[in-house]
Amino acid sequence: PQVCWLSPEQTAGKQKPYMYTQGQAVLNRSFFPCFDTPSVKFTYSATVKVPEGFTAVMSATSWEKQKDNTFVFKMSQPIPSYLIALVVGDIVSADVGPRSRVWAEPCLIEAAKKEYDGVIEEFLVVGEKLFGPYVWGRYDILFMPPSFPFGGMENPCLTFVTPCLLAGDRSLVDVIIHEISHSWFGNLVTNATWGEFWLNEGFTMYAQRRISTEVYGLPYTCLEAATGRALLRQHMDATGEDHPLNKLRVVIEPGFCLFLGVNPDDTYNETPYEKGYCFVSYLAHLVGNQSKFDAFLQAYVNRFKFQSITADDTLGFFLEYFPELKEKGVDSIPGFEFDRWLNTPGWPPYLPDLSPGQQLMRPADELAELWAADGLNMETIEAVDITGWRTYQLVYFLDQVLQKSPLPEGNVKRLSKMYPKISKAQNAELRLRWCQIVLKNNLEAEYSTVKDFLHSQGKQKYTLPLYRAMWGGSEATRALAMEIFSATAPQLHVNVQNYVKKILGLQGAE
Ligand code: BES
Ligand code: ZN
Repeated sequence: PQVCWLSPEQTAGKQKPYMYTQGQAVLNRSFFPCFDTPSVKFTYSATVKVPEGFTAVMSATSWEKQKDNTFVFKMSQPIPSYLIALVVGDIVSADVGPRSRVWAEPCLIEAAKKEYDGVIEEFLVVGEKLFGPYVWGRYDILFMPPSFPFGGMENPCLTFVTPCLLAGDRSLVDVIIHEISHSWFGNLVTNATWGEFWLNEGFTMYAQRRISTEVYGLPYTCLEAATGRALLRQHMDATGEDHPLNKLRVVIEPGFCLFLGVNPDDTYNETPYEKGYCFVSYLAHLVGNQSKFDAFLQAYVNRFKFQSITADDTLGFFLEYFPELKEKGVDSIPGFEFDRWLNTPGWPPYLPDLSPGQQLMRPADELAELWAADGLNMETIEAVDITGWRTYQLVYFLDQVLQKSPLPEGNVKRLSKMYPKISKAQNAELRLRWCQIVLKNNLEAEYSTVKDFLHSQGKQKYTLPLYRAMWGGSEATRALAMEIFSATAPQLHVNVQNYVKKILGLQGAE
């Protein structure tokens, strides 16, 4: 079941079936025999025979179509098992750059090309400037069916992404920059165990925001980072700061098999991403000079490329690279000990300064204040023009509103009417926040928005928070959760299905 077989109705085109694999973290053992641990790397080749009218693609350096609908793939760089991926479907491609094309079902290919034509190469070039050569040859993007459980998956040479990224305005391109950043952090230098997943994701968040800063500037990047920080806040509030998963180094108990030990997929949360980002930012802060730290990152990639490493390797190399910092004992500054970063759960002891984003955040903060007030000051509210706001400004605004929710009676209804750009949004990041606000404020009239959103896609990070909100709400929202789940369960990835079942108390751990 970990290999996903979709019926025609579960695709965008609704004409032909589709199959895909998702390897990370430990699903590929059900796809082919392997050492399914990120500590082992190998090259691979594959021969895939498909029915007439289908195309196969894989995370491989080269591929060739032979006679009899047979595709031959070869990955010539060593990679861990979780990065092997296969899709078979009715898919076509279009060039969007000198080493990049987009793949999608025929009905989506125009939109896919339009969204990313001419932008990918710039990210690759900036990434190479910062972190060293891009070693994977091609960088292609495959738009998956709506039930794909992640925003993006960094399969080498061929990133898989959710079709939600087709927002029409390139506003969700940070996901692509993130997956591109894995080309160095994760795919080249890999965490040796899933207990140190932050080595993949924390460094990738840092790299993503370095590329974003170069391309889009510091204010915008700080705004995006602030929305990331809000996600970390929400996660820690929900789990309690001292939850054992809120450490960068997580203990993953081994078992005799997947079902007796801890499944690394169950440890997936915001901590390795955003606390990891804070730790890498803290290392940069210790160095105190951006270009010196960039040079360190490049040396780090070069030192450990094609290897799998632990945090001790990373931090050891950091201190070796900056002997003056080692001499100063920066690894044991009280309150900021490297050991504390790794092994103590809770809010990061150091937060990078996001104030360059204030010019974009302040208007959103102020507007959220206004909407949270008891008697609405409509005159002041109407004077604020949000038509020119960027998607992440709206996202940030909605996060503030959510944090202040439930708002005084009637305010959210008014807000919904006033900003159809938000309440009727098609952009998935806006829809998620709007649905969360609808639920937290018991806005029954708009429960159908939640239903529509959960019917339209199956990304884990959108799906689980909404089920948690529904289950933690009223009788009515609990009933809504059950109704939506029974209708959509067959479309969801099996992992996501199981997590929803757990939230709804339908089944213990599986
Ligand atoms: N590698 C992850 C996705 C993943 C993590 C799959 C763990 C399976 C297990 C990917 O790079 C990722 O982090 N995607 C994010 C993108 C976001 C942080 C910009 C996502 O899907 O939301
Ligand atoms: Zn990632």
